[in-house]
Amino acid sequence: MQSYVIEGGYPLKGELVVQGSKNAALPLIAAAFLNEGITVLNGCPDISDVDNMLEIIRHLGCKAYKEKNSIIINGSLTDRDEIPADMVKSARGSMLFMGAVLARCGCISMDYPGGCMIGERPVNYHLDAFEKMGADVAYKSEGIKCTCAQLKGCTINLPFPSVGATENVILAAVKAKGATTIINAAMEPEIAELCRMLCMLGAEIEGIGSKIIIIKKGIKKRDIQYTVMSDRIAAGTYAYAAAAAGGDVCCIVNREDVMTGISVLCKRMGIKLVYGNDYVRIISGKKINSIPYIKTEPYPGFPTDMQSQLMSVLSMGDGISVIEESIFEKRYHIVGELLKMGADIRTKGSKAYIRGVRSLKGAVLDVKDLRGGAALIIAGLAADGTTTVLDPGYINRGYERIADNLSELGGNIHLA
Ligand code: EPU
Repeated sequence: MQSYVIEGGYPLKGELVVQGSKNAALPLIAAAFLNEGITVLNGCPDISDVDNMLEIIRHLGCKAYKEKNSIIINGSLTDRDEIPADMVKSARGSMLFMGAVLARCGCISMDYPGGCMIGERPVNYHLDAFEKMGADVAYKSEGIKCTCAQLKGCTINLPFPSVGATENVILAAVKAKGATTIINAAMEPEIAELCRMLCMLGAEIEGIGSKIIIIKKGIKKRDIQYTVMSDRIAAGTYAYAAAAAGGDVCCIVNREDVMTGISVLCKRMGIKLVYGNDYVRIISGKKINSIPYIKTEPYPGFPTDMQSQLMSVLSMGDGISVIEESIFEKRYHIVGELLKMGADIRTKGSKAYIRGVRSLKGAVLDVKDLRGGAALIIAGLAADGTTTVLDPGYINRGYERIADNLSELGGNIHLA
């Protein structure tokens, strides 16, 4: 168990190079499995979810190693089409191997994926799509087996713009015979990243970044290098940390759209954002305006992955705020922990009613999911006194060096 020990009340000031995106890197690793050449992914975050994906790709027979923030994957050989339960259970991203392995090997057997327990997280959209592409899907108590010697392109109409299902269909479609059209595709920038890397491998994809994606031509064996986009959720997390603790932080990023979805809200809360070519500067005087109503939505709406961090900030807002969580049904794990700090929050169904308090006080807090863990660190940075955040390993899943980064910005935080 790791504990983050935080002495609150220190404003954050300085510059930070934002890590590579977790939710872009995971599908890019699955895409590297499809490439029989060598894939080098630069700017990969050094986090346990990435390590878990590398363990799976090695298990499948590929060679993969890390060199600082680069990952080198040689996909020339694969000799397995099953993934053991313990590897699948430790990360949700493992599900992305389903489309990739099915497409390349003609068969995949794996258990239902794990990940943060933030809701039911079914995989029916993924499996319905594979079936439509010609796969035989068998449901067993120990997991799922999909078989198809040659997937065929078709039109997939997703009932909801699921990020994982969109990515899985794209991964399967670049090895399918004929074109695949995805209607109601998720539009998250991480999906555009996946499409761009697949295009480097020779795929022809229309509608990148839009609701209708057409995969017209598949990939070839190539040696490529790709630089992973900056993590928009990590950038947002540091922005909210600066908002709560006060300060002036410059996040260096390699894409322009990292603050889409949260920038309007920052302004409404009274946080100033200044954009440059490769940075976003966040200036906050610690006074937070309340937000009368905000709902989490698929991109470009307000992201569910920033909801917990927002709750920490608004718990010190100057009035009543209401958050509605519309993507995952169990994403209010931190409410009980914030109450220990003196926050005034009530939940009813998918809504949380937050009455801002003048200040939070330090407490000992338990982490129950990745973004919730980051949110509790934010609360600790702004609180009076000492906060200890007890983490059984969730935060390292998605944040690289979070304690070091915050402490380099002037936060009083260390790992014990
Ligand atoms: N859904 C279904 N059936 C499916 C797939 C999804 O009902 O087959 C539902 C889910 O239960 C959920 C909604 O659709 O209610 C959206 O789920 P989605 O498939 O979009 O989520 P995901 O692919 O499992 C990714 C991110 C999450 C992020 C969500 C939403 C990765 C590895 N994970 O999950 O990231 O919250 O999209 O943006 O990309 C995180 O980084 O902390 C995290 C949880």
